[in-house]
Amino acid sequence: MSNSGLRILLLGAPGAGKGTQAALLAKTLKVPHISTGDMFRAAKAAGSPMGVMARKYMERGELVPDKVTIGIVEERLKQKDTAHGWILDGFPRTPGQAAALDDLLARLHQQLDAVVKLTVPREELIRRLTGRRVCPDCGANYHVDSAPPKKDGVCDRCAHALEQREDDSEATVMHRLDVYNESTRPLIAFYEKKGVLHRIDGTQPVNVVNAEVVAAARAGAKAPVKAR
Ligand code: AP5
Repeated sequence: MSNSGLRILLLGAPGAGKGTQAALLAKTLKVPHISTGDMFRAAKAAGSPMGVMARKYMERGELVPDKVTIGIVEERLKQKDTAHGWILDGFPRTPGQAAALDDLLARLHQQLDAVVKLTVPREELIRRLTGRRVCPDCGANYHVDSAPPKKDGVCDRCAHALEQREDDSEATVMHRLDVYNESTRPLIAFYEKKGVLHRIDGTQPVNVVNAEVVAAARAGAKAPVKAR
């Protein structure tokens, strides 16, 4: 089977493993990994006007307004490298974004193959996020208890000092989870109705989740077009 043409969306609460799985899936399927969170963090690091604006929302655990978010995704999905598929991670996150994505895909004559929902209990999400440490230089991810670096606070890969994401403090994590429940959870039913939703237990080891995500993506691509 050709790997080209797969268009997959990863859905799940903050910390469910969307970024981890999207990166692995993008390598397997050889399609770009598009993360709105990463795009906003890059804009923030570059100090662009959009990044300065997005930071105000991100540091509070709020969603960046739909108009801005839809605009950057639309621009990204019109780039050449997305013509043969993509993995969307962290978009859509509101009913307005989901409707805008439907509209954009119709205009681009593209079809969504599968929506993969990663499920992880709240206590585990809080544990993962509050203990997460990231390398601002190479992007490597650690956890203070379950995946610590060899030398405390230092990246194994590039020896840069590790940081805690601004939005990974306990209070902000709690708020992000509430925002997810209120704004993003309704999308589960939205995609279930379309017949494209695959639920996966995100508490399993990363490689097991990855195998299930790949299987769901491939099953989605084989589903009859009218069911999508
Ligand atoms: P974003 O960066 O998308 O953050 P998020 O959705 O809160 O997701 P995370 O990156 O925290 O978690 P994840 O599910 O990707 O899990 P990960 O793989 O990293 O968004 C940040 C902010 O940007 C938002 O709050 C908002 O302000 C703004 N934004 C972004 N998109 C937006 C949109 N569409 N609309 C409006 N605003 C938007 O894993 C988490 C941890 O768990 C890692 O340490 C990892 O190593 C570990 N882990 C992963 N899988 C496993 C496993 N199977 N077992 C054990 N540990 C695991």
